[in-house]
Amino acid sequence: MANKFESLIPTAVIVNGGAWGDEGKGKIASREAKYADLVIRATGGANAGHTVVFNGKKLGLHLIPGGIVYPQTTALIGQGVVLDPDSLLKEINDLENAGVKDVEGRLKISGRAHLVFPYHKDKDQLEEKYKDNPIGTTKRGIGPAYEDKDARVGLRVYDLLLPAKELEAKIVVATRMLNQLFKIDGITEVDAHHLAELYHEYGKRIWQMVVNADILVEEFVRARKKIVVEGAQAYRLDKDWGDYPNVTSSNCVTPGALIGAHLNQYDVERVITVVKAYFSRVGEGPFPTEQLAHIKNDKVLKYKPEEAYVGDIIREAGGEYGVSTGRPRRCGWFDAVLVKSSKRALGTDYLCINHVDTLGILGKKLGSVKVCVKYHYQGKIIEYYPDDIELTGEVPQPIYEEIEGGWDISSTARSYDELPENAKRFIELVESVTEMPVKFIGVGPANDDLIVRNM
Ligand code: IMP
Repeated sequence: MANKFESLIPTAVIVNGGAWGDEGKGKIASREAKYADLVIRATGGANAGHTVVFNGKKLGLHLIPGGIVYPQTTALIGQGVVLDPDSLLKEINDLENAGVKDVEGRLKISGRAHLVFPYHKDKDQLEEKYKDNPIGTTKRGIGPAYEDKDARVGLRVYDLLLPAKELEAKIVVATRMLNQLFKIDGITEVDAHHLAELYHEYGKRIWQMVVNADILVEEFVRARKKIVVEGAQAYRLDKDWGDYPNVTSSNCVTPGALIGAHLNQYDVERVITVVKAYFSRVGEGPFPTEQLAHIKNDKVLKYKPEEAYVGDIIREAGGEYGVSTGRPRRCGWFDAVLVKSSKRALGTDYLCINHVDTLGILGKKLGSVKVCVKYHYQGKIIEYYPDDIELTGEVPQPIYEEIEGGWDISSTARSYDELPENAKRFIELVESVTEMPVKFIGVGPANDDLIVRNM
């Protein structure tokens, strides 16, 4: 019998977020997917969002891997995803309308992926209401769907294939406790019969796409086909590694992506971690390098241009508004300490830094750009992201290194040598603090506006 090391040549590329999400993972995932055979979405649900451009049309995808736009790919929604069928069908429709060929023939859905129901969204709102410090979730029912999975009352994609009566019986069990809670809060009881009919109809629409994904993935692995896992969320939103409780409800770091994508450690060829040249965050939680901005309750307040804070200037320069929710993002400087600290969670081979062009513009406007290289924390200088912030109540204070002036980069630049000196200093500073090689450098908004270094 062949041993596992001889028989398998790793072919999977994992694309992760290195901070709090919205790093532009879609750009690099899409580049990798161009030559991929299998593209996989592994974790999260319709809380994530990325924009793909097809035939000049912008499409907002939340569940389906963006790599589906390449006609040779098979796209899999893996077992780690929580799937909202309504959102899924809309995306299929949008892709087909845009002219993407054979979407339903190439899209596969793990029968073991869990389902999001409308009552999960109601519960999401309710859970936020009962917190002293709401997380600022996306209200897409993601947390409650994972809660049901953990409580072992969740319904899975396979359940959509049940006769409506049996589906209804499962919904009744899944919502028995929840209905008590809803009663107290004056929320209408879950109509299990109606939901069963609706979800049974969804089942009729998607049953041909439902697979045993273990077998599907194994076939691709055995045939040494190229696999790309499009990560969702990011390192500091991971429910174990992140800023608990201000996190999402899945493990969105590399090991979580493997489980969600039906892969194991022997399949991984390389891990690419994506960050932006400045940082952003939506929702609540610590953000050491955050800059002041005119944001309140997820809205931008009115202010005169001359009153703009640094956080406003970064947000507007980068167009930092959520794809899924439209919320303005909190913005700040690049945090190299945070990225360095992600090493155990992500196992990064290469960094991709997006918006290096935007950072140059900011530098020109503000006189310099900053990179956090250490923190002041609890009376000490430290070089790691602390994990007891909730306990101490102290957000680490960044110690910056500054690069005077900014830079201009043409979006047509394709080699490292074309970068202005200051931009190179930025990249080299990031590499020296994070101890991670920067292979990919984003120099413009389009997918191809990317420098790929030979390393
Ligand atoms: P949830 O995932 O909707 O439960 O939200 C939990 C936290 O994760 C909130 O702070 C969200 O803003 C954040 N979050 C979830 N998904 C994303 C994402 O794709 N990008 C950025 N933040 C996200």
